[in-house]
Amino acid sequence: TERTGLDFNLGEEQEAVREAARDFAQSELLPGVIERDTEQKFDKDLLRKMGEMGFMGMMVSPEYGGGGMDTVSYAIAVEEISKVDASASVIMSVNNSLVCWGLEAFGSEEQKQKYLTRLATGEIIGAFCLSEPEAGSDATSQHTTAQDMGDHYLLNGTKNWITSGNTASVCLVMAQTNPEEKHRGINCLIVEKGSDGFSVGRKEDKMGIRASDTHSLMFSDVKVPKENRIGDDGFGFKLAMSTLNGGRIGIAAQALGIAAGAYERALQYAQERTTFGHPIFDHQAIQFKLADMATRIEAARLLVYKAAKDKDEGKDYVKSAAMAKLYASDVAMWVTTEAVQIHGGYGYVKEYHVERLMRDAKITQIYEGTSEIQKLVIARELIK
Ligand code: CAA
Ligand code: FAD
Repeated sequence: TERTGLDFNLGEEQEAVREAARDFAQSELLPGVIERDTEQKFDKDLLRKMGEMGFMGMMVSPEYGGGGMDTVSYAIAVEEISKVDASASVIMSVNNSLVCWGLEAFGSEEQKQKYLTRLATGEIIGAFCLSEPEAGSDATSQHTTAQDMGDHYLLNGTKNWITSGNTASVCLVMAQTNPEEKHRGINCLIVEKGSDGFSVGRKEDKMGIRASDTHSLMFSDVKVPKENRIGDDGFGFKLAMSTLNGGRIGIAAQALGIAAGAYERALQYAQERTTFGHPIFDHQAIQFKLADMATRIEAARLLVYKAAKDKDEGKDYVKSAAMAKLYASDVAMWVTTEAVQIHGGYGYVKEYHVERLMRDAKITQIYEGTSEIQKLVIARELIK
């Protein structure tokens, strides 16, 4: 089993999670991963199995149907699943870190009983809706409105790029209620799919993570009961930012897994492929690539586990999560590109998997805050 090198004291439970996630990825996710990428389809059956394995609500308290595990175990599971299928891991990451975590941390007991219990087991899937056509990095600039109508909110607007937009039954939607309060006027509402006036836009045809469905969502006079607001009036932006701090650990773990998956394939291939009478591993140019890949992956892994550990130990993790995501996503992009190079022409076709991992890697530098935004977050923390 891989270890970090630094003494992170991975316990038996964490090692067991790694084994379980690795076995699941090999036996259930690997068969069909190329086809799902090509056809942009995520199998509902696989999603159900991931729920049964406990991957959809890993950190949620058992009281609400979750696994009650720590963030390090969660990061390890995301890492192992991402080695094989980054579409599966983004669905998992959004459900665990953005939807379940926000509900458990800030939701009322009634909201947890009604929604969290089903989300944590994977019986239903959740979506996190912050981004809009004109509000991505500039997330405070919300154009979606939630007008206070007394006993309910009237929701109007469009959300863009929503992961699991079609699959999800429950959406956490950020919307502006009091524009004069700026970001402190934003609320987070739990909105059920199927509500009158709620429609799903077309599926985005993406470069990578193609089996994960990404849609825009439209709200036209959707009535949302007051009891579906999470937290106090105006708490929505704080909720979104706090949630994303943890989400960034999940995406950093995803990037780490994508890099490690491509590296493992490249290492194996380098020992099998022969040119000029030798395995290509014997050419120092190839050895040096693999040495650099292994080194950067190890460094990324330490940053990811450190951020997860900070969160588990109740330390501030804004900076460590942003650093982990910034670094691991760059490592994923670089390592996957080199893995394609090591495979030569075979790396350029789908059968060898590394071209998909390279396409999947790119998104980790963009979503849950672009690399530029992570630098902005880190820089602000430096002078706090
Ligand atoms: N943690 C907690 N609170 C935070 C925070 C953080 N990391 N960052 C900002 N805040 C709070 C601030 O404290 C402030 O609140 P108060 O005024 O009440 O103190 C409020 O948020 C606004 O912060 P700023 O004044 O710093 O706002 P800004 O506009 O200058 O910058 C930003 C904010 C950091 C750029 C932020 O908008 C941001 O993170 N943008 C990126 C958005 C993003 O990550 N989107 C991801 C969407 S989900 C997704 O992508 C899922 C997926 O793909 C799978
Ligand atoms: P912009 O904000 O327009 O940025 C354009 C470029 O300008 C970027 O390079 C950016 O880094 C740079 N830039 C912007 N501002 C600054 C600055 N101040 N300093 C330096 N550089 C800057 N969102 C959700 O809410 N929920 C989801 O489930 C979700 N899933 C997604 C899935 C996919 C596949 C994709 C592609 C996106 C998803 N997103 C989701 C949205 C994602 O979080 C945004 O795309 C991302 O935050 C960037 O916003 P933007 O696309 O509007 O780019």
